[in-house]
Formats: sequence, structure tokens, C-alpha cells
Amino acid sequence: MHADIVVLPGDGIGPEVTAAAVAVLQAAGRRYGHTFRFETRLIGGAAIDAEGAPLSDATLDACRKADAILLGAVGGPKWSDGEIRPEQGLLKLRKALGLYANLRPVRTHPVALTASPIKSHLLTGVDMIVVRELTGGVYFGRRTRTDIAASDLCEYTVAEIERVVRRACTLARGRRKFVVSVDKANVLETSRLWRQVATRVARDEFPDVRLEHQLVDSMAMHLIAKPREYDVIVTENMFGDILTDEASMLAGSMGLLPSASLGEGRGGVYEPIHGSAPDIAGRGIANPCGAILSAAMLLRHSLGLDAEARCIEKAVADAIDGGALTADLALTGIAARPPLGTDAMAAAVI
Ligand code: NAI
Ligand code: MG
Repeated sequence: MHADIVVLPGDGIGPEVTAAAVAVLQAAGRRYGHTFRFETRLIGGAAIDAEGAPLSDATLDACRKADAILLGAVGGPKWSDGEIRPEQGLLKLRKALGLYANLRPVRTHPVALTASPIKSHLLTGVDMIVVRELTGGVYFGRRTRTDIAASDLCEYTVAEIERVVRRACTLARGRRKFVVSVDKANVLETSRLWRQVATRVARDEFPDVRLEHQLVDSMAMHLIAKPREYDVIVTENMFGDILTDEASMLAGSMGLLPSASLGEGRGGVYEPIHGSAPDIAGRGIANPCGAILSAAMLLRHSLGLDAEARCIEKAVADAIDGGALTADLALTGIAARPPLGTDAMAAAVI
């Protein structure tokens, strides 16, 4: 097949890890007979410097037309005090493309287990995916502010809940057919609606999928105490923001974790969960695995190339299991050899 992919490297280590991911995509294309055309454009601080805005209309237009978007990271100290902020580019992109479902898989690799602050025996075999609602809830609600008070309104519509729960249940069908929906239904009205809608969608449309409900506070506990039990977790925007950061600690390093942000269309934005890591930018030592695994998700979710995606995921797991470790993992003292740089890690995967 032929596919057009827009690459938005962004700032800091973004360009380093996206270059590695593009190299892996090219290798997968050669192996499976696909041609991927890459169009590189600016986002974030790099775009502010060159184009005066964190996401130009021309870039947004190219993103709309593309089959998928591969993103690095945005931001850095250089732009943190400015009026125009790099993150605005990311929010504009998500909103313009209607990317309402943020998928974050968390899988543990045996070799990387000791890099996690959690006891290894709890982590062996963890394989979950968190689906976070991305365009609703308190982050997008009406807000007020006076000298003595402030408010943020949390709102969800039935349609917003239905579509993200459907996405989670559909994912579960290709996995262990188990979904945990996380809410705070003992306190919040939006959560009571969430629970009601999730129950109906699962019962009427996904009778083969087991749905359970969990309150967010106890979920925070269970994620650490028995992470192996979870398959798909679906939740609203703010709960998802917090739980995904917590879940990322299970894997050992932020540098290992990918994400996908999906809407109704085929296109989506695929990016590692980490930021621009200004502390290590430009040194060629960033772990590219999060970006490479994001590229695998791109193949699966936007291009329908599941075998190719699994091939890349296996290549990453095999490389790590074989002792190919970047500095973020090697620093924990588990590597016998000197750590690999970004390009060498990509080469090991290829
Ligand atoms: P960060 O994720 O950039 O870095 C946190 C720590 O993890 C740093 O010590 C960094 O060196 C390390 N790290 C991150 N990715 C790594 C990788 N691939 N390999 C090895 N080590 C890695 O988060 P931080 O420092 O809070 O934010 C830095 C900048 O990134 C800020 O401007 C922030 O706003 C931005 N950011 C952007 C995101 C995005 O583009 N989606 C997400 C999070 C932060
Ligand atoms: Mg967060």
C-alpha cells in the first residue's frame, strides 16, 4: 500500500526519536512492500521560531490530508515564558482533528523490570491499554474566576461517552475482552451518566466483552497492587491524565511508552508519551522506543497493517530482551554493556 505520513518532529529530543521511528517505518515498508511518503513539518517551539505560530494553517491542512501523523514532542525552557506557547500547537491539532480517544498501552519487558520503582514480581506480564477521553470534561468546560473564587465545569454528553466506550470495547475484542470503566459515580453526576452509558453500550453492542466499573481512587491503588489483572481501562479526561502517568511507571522508563490519539476518521496522531527532554536533547542518547512503538500503533490504527505493527512490537521487545538498552534503562545498573545511543537502538530494532 501507499500512505502519506506527516512527521512533526517538534522540539528537544523530538527530532531525534522521530528520525529513529521513520527509519523503522521505512524498514517495515521495505520488508512488507509498502511505500510510505513522509512530509516533515514544524510544530511547537520550532514552529514559533520559524513561522510565528506553534501550528501553522498550512501544516494543519497537511495533517488533515495525511493518512496519519507522527509526532515527537513540543516545548522547552526557551518558550516557557512566552505569550505563544508550544503546547497550543498540540491542543489545536487534537481539537481540529477531533481526536477524542487517547490510547496508551503499557507493557512490561522482563529486562526493563528492575528500572521500575515497583517490585518486579508484580510487573511480570503486565499488558494493558488505557483509553483516555481527550476532548471533553473539566479541561474543556466553562470556567470562572473572581478575586475570591474560581470554578471549572465538568460536562459530558451521552454521545461523547458512547464513542469512547465503543472504542475501548472494540479494542478489548482484539485482546482479553475485559474493560474496566473508571469513574467517581459515588460523588459526581457526570460519572453517574458515564457509568449508565458505559453499561448500556457494553450490554447492547458488546455482549462478548466483560465490563466492570471501578472508582478512580481505588483504581489508583489497584494499578500498583495488581496491574497484571487489567486489559483495557476506559475513563474520562482528567482521571485518564492522572492514571496514565501512574501507569507509565509500571514500564520502567517513560522512553518506552507510545500513544495514539484517534477520532472518527482514519487519521490520528501518534507520539511517545514523554516530553522534549531538554536535559538530554541533542546528545543522541534518547530512548527511541516510545516513538518506534507509536509508529507501530500508526500502522495498526490508521493504516490497518496489524501484522506489520506486531512485527515492530516484537522487534522492540526482542531488542530489549537481547540487552539493547539506552541510557535511561542502562543507568539502573541492569546493562552489562555500554548503553546504546538513539540511532544504535533503532538499528537494533531494525
Ligand atoms: P520529559 O518527558 O521531557 O522528561 C522527563 C525526564 O524523562 C527527563 O529527565 C528526560 O531526560 C527523561 N526522558 C524523557 N523522554 C526520554 C527518552 N525518550 N529517553 C530517555 N529519557 C527520557 O518531561 P519534562 O522534563 O517534564 O518536560 C520537558 C518539556 O517537554 C516541557 O517543555 C514540557 O512542557 C514538554 N512536554 C511535552 C509533551 C508533549 O509534547 N506531548 C509531554 C510532556 C512534556
Ligand atoms: Mg499528563
